[in-house]
Amino acid sequence: MRQHVNPLSNNFDEVERIPSLIKIFDNSKLNLHLDIGCASGEFLFDLALINTNWNYLGIEIRERLVKTAKLKVQERDIKNLYFVFGSANNIVNDHNFKFIIKNIKSISFNFPDPWFKKRHYKRRVIQPDFINTLSNSMKKGSLIFIKTDVEDLFYYMDNTISSNFNFKKIEKKNFNYAETFNPNKVKTNREKYVIENNLDIFERIYIKI
Ligand SMILES: C[S@@+](CC[C@H](N)C(=O)[O-])C[C@H]1O[C@@H](n2cnc3c(N)ncnc32)[C@H](O)[C@@H]1O
Repeated sequence: MRQHVNPLSNNFDEVERIPSLIKIFDNSKLNLHLDIGCASGEFLFDLALINTNWNYLGIEIRERLVKTAKLKVQERDIKNLYFVFGSANNIVNDHNFKFIIKNIKSISFNFPDPWFKKRHYKRRVIQPDFINTLSNSMKKGSLIFIKTDVEDLFYYMDNTISSNFNFKKIEKKNFNYAETFNPNKVKTNREKYVIENNLDIFERIYIKI
């Protein structure tokens, strides 16, 4: 079991300077997806290689993973993928990043750290302030995807997002994945583990209205 990183530690108060989209991507006009808590980024590498008509951005709080992922992007000369180190909760307040969020088509939270103890709930990445900041910058029609194998965390995230009246739940049966950042339903590492171990997956999609 790895030790979870505490996102409230002041180690993460300073935010990495994020260049403009034109500097990050070869074609900054492509649809942009953000994956929050992307770990080593394998999911995003898979997506970026298959869906060359999308740009992908990953945020991860474990610095070593981000350094390795950035090196891999350089070595493989991938032009539609970029990684940012830091706590997403702080990064979203960065002036430059707010501009990036305005250009985002979708955001995914895949299997975020559960922080099981009640006194640690405030360390969970999805928080009311965080969702308000996203909702103030995201454009109408953009999407949030959440996925977890922890039922309690699912309801916590669902309540937090649904309490913001700018987000509406989308019925899964009416949803067409073909047009999204993940048309082939590529799985994250945690998702593969959860499926192999026959655990439940709780997921929901929200649209900014
Ligand atoms: C359980 S792992 C899931 C990784 C991956 N999304 C998957 O589905 O396999 C959660 C990841 O979120 C990262 N994380 C936790 N809090 C974060 C935060 N506030 N900002 C950015 N990343 C965070 C953790 O370091 C970890 O890599």
